[in-house]
Amino acid sequence: VLVAHLRTFTASYEFTNILGVNSSFFLFPRNFLFGTASSSYQFEGAYLTHGKGLSNWDTFSHKPGNIVDGSNGDIAVDHYNRYLEDIELMEYMGTNTFRFSISWARILPKGLFGDVNMAGIRHYDNLINALLRKGIQPFVSLTHYDIPQELEDRYGGWLSSQVQKDFEYYSYICFKYYGDRVKYWVTFNEPNVVAIRGYRSGIYPPARCSGSFGNCSSGDSEREPFVVAHNMILSHAAAVNIYRTKYQGKQKGSIGIVMNAVWYEPISNSSEDRIAAQRAQSFYMNWFLDPIIFGKYPQEMKDILGSLLPDFSKKYFENINNGLDFIGVNHYTSFYVKDCLHSTCEQGPGISKTEGYYLRTALKNSVLIGESTALDWLYVYPQGMEKMVNYLKNRYNNMPMFITENGLGVMNQPDSIIESFLNDDKRVEYMKSYLDALVSAISKGADLRGYFAWSLLDNFEWISGYTIRFGLYHVGYTTLERTPKLSAKWYKLFISNYTRHE
Ligand code: NOJ
Repeated sequence: VLVAHLRTFTASYEFTNILGVNSSFFLFPRNFLFGTASSSYQFEGAYLTHGKGLSNWDTFSHKPGNIVDGSNGDIAVDHYNRYLEDIELMEYMGTNTFRFSISWARILPKGLFGDVNMAGIRHYDNLINALLRKGIQPFVSLTHYDIPQELEDRYGGWLSSQVQKDFEYYSYICFKYYGDRVKYWVTFNEPNVVAIRGYRSGIYPPARCSGSFGNCSSGDSEREPFVVAHNMILSHAAAVNIYRTKYQGKQKGSIGIVMNAVWYEPISNSSEDRIAAQRAQSFYMNWFLDPIIFGKYPQEMKDILGSLLPDFSKKYFENINNGLDFIGVNHYTSFYVKDCLHSTCEQGPGISKTEGYYLRTALKNSVLIGESTALDWLYVYPQGMEKMVNYLKNRYNNMPMFITENGLGVMNQPDSIIESFLNDDKRVEYMKSYLDALVSAISKGADLRGYFAWSLLDNFEWISGYTIRFGLYHVGYTTLERTPKLSAKWYKLFISNYTRHE
């Protein structure tokens, strides 16, 4: 329906203006969501305010050596106290949605049954109401990396199947208090990143390594990332089940998951490399999406991992009934993939030989598919966005999709010279080209329903601390002052010119 709707309003006259999105004029429907994204730990600060419990990221960032600039999210960008001001920034740009996450430790300081922190409940109540007053739809994640530290201490967090019940209870509390007003729910932000960085390379909490990866010495079992993923998948299913049986009928919202989605381009046309690229996709993204949508892990994973991969019960498989209403796609970059099952490869960073592929991230002297940026993981290759969306459309029967994150990060400079940040024409170029690719995917029939720029504000970029800026608004970290960059002004123009007005 949406696609038909879009086609109806796709005029095809040439235009030349500063927005510069492709040559055919394309109008997004009025109800297409355009927004910016954020997350609790990266934005809120107020880490002990109003009864909040400690999160795993509080603990982790407070340990010297974990964050490159020695910083943490104690204050972050103080969004907890400044959300009203931040909503005005959204209003200026004309965005009709805002993506944020709820801090589990604010709602349930210990993460456990009972013990609801009403001050935490009130905070998100106020935020949600303030957004809705301005016509901005809340798009809410239940977790975005941070979980209560108590769950780690008590039973090892995602490693234990006990977490499923606790996550189910937490999600129930959120649906109960907010579901009358929140119409878009996300269970997990990038669970694939949590499993890999938390339990394989060990660079995120709880800093566990497996096999020969990472440089922590714990030598934890190679099975851990897969156990963690399994518990997250079952936690997701539990939350979806509560939502569908108790709330969805009345509240009329939808529930999905957000995946980190890297486009994997085969480095050559050989069938080995093409199969390896498919394998990489399965080990990274379909790892979660296949079991949630189809009830089983991708065959490539089973073939290679054998008993390292946990099993689903028959009951899970029978009840899965498509455990998603939409797929959230965090897409920034593309990598080359080379087969290593049939030929020898150098070992790529953090990538297992047993998985049989190698990610070529830095192709200095050769056919680099994308333009490189200051970040070693971020290559500008807008076609990757179209290919990604198209891939998901085909594999998952054109399920509704949102681009839940897309954006460009640049390395920080001292606060005194903010001009170079304010004139972020590179970011504008980046967004234009990726939106262009999105338009192309939509016009070929993908059921795309929204786009979120990462991020509203510069913020705490995890282990990179405050050294990388992703915001459409600049934040001066000593004053916490927000200043619009060119990209904020451009986004405003883009939205007002490209969104259909009735
Ligand atoms: C994805 C994550 O969800 C977000 O938290 C992070 O800041 C961005 N990528 C940029 O790295």
